[in-house]
Amino acid sequence: MGLRIGDKAPDFKQESSEGTINFHEWAGDNWVVLFSHPADFTPVCTTELGATANLKAEFEKRGAKAIAVSVDPVESHKGWIGDINETQNTTVNFPILADENRTVAELYDMIHPNEDDASTVRSVFIIDPNKKIRTMITYPKSTGRNFNEVVRVIDSLQLTDNYSVATPANWNDGEDVIILPSITDPDVIKEKFPKGHKELRPYLRVTPQPNR
Ligand code: BEZ
Repeated sequence: MGLRIGDKAPDFKQESSEGTINFHEWAGDNWVVLFSHPADFTPVCTTELGATANLKAEFEKRGAKAIAVSVDPVESHKGWIGDINETQNTTVNFPILADENRTVAELYDMIHPNEDDASTVRSVFIIDPNKKIRTMITYPKSTGRNFNEVVRVIDSLQLTDNYSVATPANWNDGEDVIILPSITDPDVIKEKFPKGHKELRPYLRVTPQPNR
C-alpha cells in the first residue's frame, strides 16, 4: 500500500550532493519539503531546483528545509548544480539525493511506471517536525511545479496547527481564514478568535488571519 497523508514519513539513508543523509536525523525539528524530479541536466528540473534555492529564506522563516531526489548519481548532481547556479542566478543550498538504487523512490512511490519506469515523477511530500506526512502533490514530468504554492501550503498547515483554522479556496497569506468545524463552543471561539468572526452558515465561519 502506498503512503498516505497522516502516515509516518519513512526514514532512509542515502548519498547526496552534500554527503550521506540519514533522513530523520537530517530533518531534525524542521518541516521538510522532499521532492523528486525526473533527471539531471533537463530543462524543467533545472528551473525547479533554481526556484527552490531562491526560496530558501521563505522556507527558513517557516522552519522548513528542502531536499531533492532523483535516480542520478552524486557526480552528475554536482556537475548539474553548476548549470543551475549559472542559469537560474542562484546557489543551490540544499542536498540532492542520489537515489541510484531507488531506495527513496520506492519508499515514497515516486516512480510511476505508466509515465516512465526509469525515473521519478515530480512528487512533493511536506513532512512536519513529528515526521508525519502532511501533504502529497504529484505532477507529470512536463509540468514544472509552483514552489510558491508549496510555501502557501506550509503556511496553511502551520495556521491549522497553531490557530485551529483552515484556509479557503485560493487563499493567500493575510486573507480571511475559516474556523475549524470541530470548534463549536462559543466561549472557546471568543477566546481563540479575539478579532471576531462572521458566521455565513453554522458550518462556515470566517475570521481574520490570527497571526496578522
Ligand atoms: C525536464 O525536466 O525538463 C523534463 C524531464 C522529463 C520530461 C520532460 C521534461
